[in-house]
Amino acid sequence: MNELAINGGTPVRTTSYPAWPKGDEREIDAVTDVIRSGDWGGFPEPGRYAARFEEAFAKYQGAGHGVLMSNGTITMEVALKALGIGWGDEVIIPALTFAATAYAPIAAGALPVIVDVTPETWCIDPDQVEAAITPRTRAIMPVHLGHHMADMDRIMDIAARHGLAVVEDCAHAHGQQWQGRGAGCIGDFGSFSHQSSKILTAGEGGTLLTSDDDLARRAHSLIDCGRAKDPEEKEYTFGANYRLGELHAALLAVAMERFPAQQAERAENGKLFEELVVQVPGVRVMPADARITRWSFYNYLLAIDPETFAGRTNTVVAAAMEAEGIPAEVQYPSMNRYELFQPSLSRLPVCVEHADRLDPQAMSFPVAEAAGQRESLYFMENVFRDGANGVEAAVEALAKIQRNADELPAG
Ligand SMILES: Cc1ncc(COP(=O)(O)O)c(C=O)c1O
Repeated sequence: MNELAINGGTPVRTTSYPAWPKGDEREIDAVTDVIRSGDWGGFPEPGRYAARFEEAFAKYQGAGHGVLMSNGTITMEVALKALGIGWGDEVIIPALTFAATAYAPIAAGALPVIVDVTPETWCIDPDQVEAAITPRTRAIMPVHLGHHMADMDRIMDIAARHGLAVVEDCAHAHGQQWQGRGAGCIGDFGSFSHQSSKILTAGEGGTLLTSDDDLARRAHSLIDCGRAKDPEEKEYTFGANYRLGELHAALLAVAMERFPAQQAERAENGKLFEELVVQVPGVRVMPADARITRWSFYNYLLAIDPETFAGRTNTVVAAAMEAEGIPAEVQYPSMNRYELFQPSLSRLPVCVEHADRLDPQAMSFPVAEAAGQRESLYFMENVFRDGANGVEAAVEALAKIQRNADELPAG
């Protein structure tokens, strides 16, 4: 037998997918220019390339301002601080996201209140958000996960009715648009990551978008050691150095020039993948919401039904996909089972009343837990940058694994 590549069979695909990140002479020229200029750092803030990138990216997404800083974790902490959110406040976040989304409120001094996600998108469940609101709630931080966006109509409606701020975690959503409005431009702030794997990257970096002049000024001040950014230079903040250096900013300025074409390519191949993958039994396709008017994604999410894979879970299927030559991974664990989220190691629980709500043992998120432990599978962005062949191979490999599921290793 041994059809499957994980058991020594022939892989569906033997050529590698396009590498990421992608750079050429333009990056080399831009970085050389920075080196020759002598202005290597991020001070004065913003630097020449930082300002160029901030303007171009904000324009592309449709925001009034961009504020570039050192990563996409700090961005969320700065957003909360700029909004005046801190000690004793509560911030509602989804159970399925990178640990940074939960870290940021704690870093700002607030309590992250974690709620479950919807089975349709694995993004924050608006009903759960509404149920979690208390008099201490100050903000909602939806995460636009994988190829999805959170239901921003419902989130903004809830926020307006309860007087809450909204900070969108857009680490996966550069380029996305919801009903004609860019991701990160619907709430008060949008937070983007430019870490190596992200689709607009300099290796490290993060951008906050906002259309509020005061919030933008405060964010610039918070990342520049609290320096006043108003014309009279009177409005100081309690800031620190979160600036990004010009070498990284130069890489981003060049990456921005290529971004629209790369995004369109992924979206086109993503549509083809969506059409083809419905044929694979045991796979629940989670189509992008029709309200997404410009589609762009960091990775594409699928739910497998372990019963139709001979009881094997997502981890085994992802390993089998890798063996077939298709880059595939499982989504984050639910926040209560996440080794990167250890709130008891922060000082927050002893400082904030009700911090017992951060006890992972006391939490239950059935949808996020099923996704993390059993169902979720995602394909990396480069599967969608190799024409029709790239996505056809992914579908073929998934179908092959499903057909031969009895051969899969246990797990
Ligand atoms: C959903 C989400 N939020 C936040 C971050 C944090 O970004 P960074 O790694 O730039 O700090 C990431 C990065 O992986 C992410 O995936």
